[in-house]
Amino acid sequence: MILSKTIRQKFLDFFAQHDHSIIGSARLIPEHDPTVLFTTAGMHPLVPYLLGETHPAGVRLANYQKCIRTGDIESVGDRWHLTFFEMLGNWSLGDYFKDQAIRMSHEFLTNREWLGIDSHRLHVSVFAGDADAPRDIASADIWRSLGIPAEHIYYYPKSANWWGPAGSTGPCGPDTEMYYDTGIEKCSPGCNPDCSCGKYVEIWNDVFMQYNKMADGTYQPLKQQNVDTGMGLERITAVLNGAQEVYTTDLFAPIMAAITARTQRHEDTSKEIICDHIRAATFIMADGISPSNLDQGYVLRRLIRRAIRHGRKLGIEGFFLQDLADIVIQEYSAFYPELEKNRSEIKLEFVNEEEKFSKTLEKGEKQFAKLTARIKPNGVMPGEQAFHLFDTYGFPFEITQELAHEQGITIDEDGFNDFYKQHQEQSRTGAQKRFKGGLADASWETIRGHTATHLLHEALRRILGPHVYQKGSNITPERLRFDFSHPEKVTPEQLKEIEDMVNEEIQRGLEVHYEIMSVEQAHKIGAIGLFDDKYAEKVKVYLIGDFSKEFCGGPHVNNTTEVGKFKIVKEEACSAGIRRIKAVVIHILSC
Ligand code: ALA
Repeated sequence: MILSKTIRQKFLDFFAQHDHSIIGSARLIPEHDPTVLFTTAGMHPLVPYLLGETHPAGVRLANYQKCIRTGDIESVGDRWHLTFFEMLGNWSLGDYFKDQAIRMSHEFLTNREWLGIDSHRLHVSVFAGDADAPRDIASADIWRSLGIPAEHIYYYPKSANWWGPAGSTGPCGPDTEMYYDTGIEKCSPGCNPDCSCGKYVEIWNDVFMQYNKMADGTYQPLKQQNVDTGMGLERITAVLNGAQEVYTTDLFAPIMAAITARTQRHEDTSKEIICDHIRAATFIMADGISPSNLDQGYVLRRLIRRAIRHGRKLGIEGFFLQDLADIVIQEYSAFYPELEKNRSEIKLEFVNEEEKFSKTLEKGEKQFAKLTARIKPNGVMPGEQAFHLFDTYGFPFEITQELAHEQGITIDEDGFNDFYKQHQEQSRTGAQKRFKGGLADASWETIRGHTATHLLHEALRRILGPHVYQKGSNITPERLRFDFSHPEKVTPEQLKEIEDMVNEEIQRGLEVHYEIMSVEQAHKIGAIGLFDDKYAEKVKVYLIGDFSKEFCGGPHVNNTTEVGKFKIVKEEACSAGIRRIKAVVIHILSC
């Protein structure tokens, strides 16, 4: 058996030997980027560098990155798809391109010193070409030169062989994907690596990030030709161990064993869903998110409640999530120390949420009894009523179904689905509105907001005190939002002082520039901001005149006068001990 930790380490060693700097895993909650709720791939925190900013660790990077992809949580529970996963990735920021990237991927996969996969099992795909970008003949030629036969090379369109951008604009490009043939029978004569039957498992993706998708939908060449790769750790571990699914790997085995020990039942899908969701929820909480009805907190709540529901299905009694969280923390803290650091808060959140959910279930059951009192035996519950239970009481539809079944009542499922679809449509439109734009497209408005955020951060510390610490930041072209630690409401007088201070610094016309320095040096000069890359030797610190020094990737304006006028529009509580400021920067036209 080959352990996941061995694969993680081999990957880092291989790329370090090929002159890559190892960088740490970024947080799951993207900094400054409102285009997505979670970090969905290793490239995501690197967007500014793919667009041309200088990375303090150089032009060749590699890491393992924690990622969350929720898509539709309700569909998770097959053998290969997860909400939380670890991505092994390597990057070239305008350094090597297709030839070296593909050769390194091939060597790492097939060389016995590394993963030693039988080359005959490998199939690859390349971009077929369309009106936006040409057919990727170069990549196909490189694969052929490495001994991959023509019949194992597939040409797919953008829908399958193109990556990015994460939002509607940003860096992207054609990719070449590597698949492992598991050896099971083809599901049909036409079965090919793009088929989801499980015969072929995608194990690695090399993206050639050479375009920037613009707001008008066109693809402009980037300043530099980058490489961005991603290999799912869970999948490659399964494949190397001959497993037909990710859940039997060592990444899940201890969690699975703890679930199995609590039930006599054999519903594997429920066990897998709990396994996946407990891991995802524990990691999200370790990054400081609590269950709520908004954004990341809402996703977290759904993950936890779905895990509880499947626990019930398995007949698991009592609160069980905090015990499973303990196992996740124990298994992963060596690679993600933030888990151990937040152990007690995480466990407490699980208990609180389980308590809340059991109250929700109790209320929902009472309401269900009221509604069904008027329905005759063998009658039908209208879809609208089932939806009301779901929407207003948070009562899961599956539980409504179970109870109805016990009482010999049927539910108008089509009716429920109609209401549900309408509701999803509405929340999707809301989310799109909220997440449009952002630093990923590096629009000028967003860059100005970003510099204003640094000024605000420093002004808060000077007026309120050094206990102020960044807890979150989210910038769109329309406004900036900054969350920070502070135990009480900021008074209107203090807000005025803060706003004035920021505007004074803007008017002073301070120069904005960055310096790359050692972590030690950065701490010595008093750089502030979020910094938790345990691998970093060198860091990038942005300096705004003599006013602010902050860990940051950029980009920023060159001179504070470019920010315009800064105005605070709202101050409110965000969660216990954390305040939120919303502000705008108003562009001032010079004559
Ligand atoms: N960003 C690419 C992916 O996630 C590597 O597949």
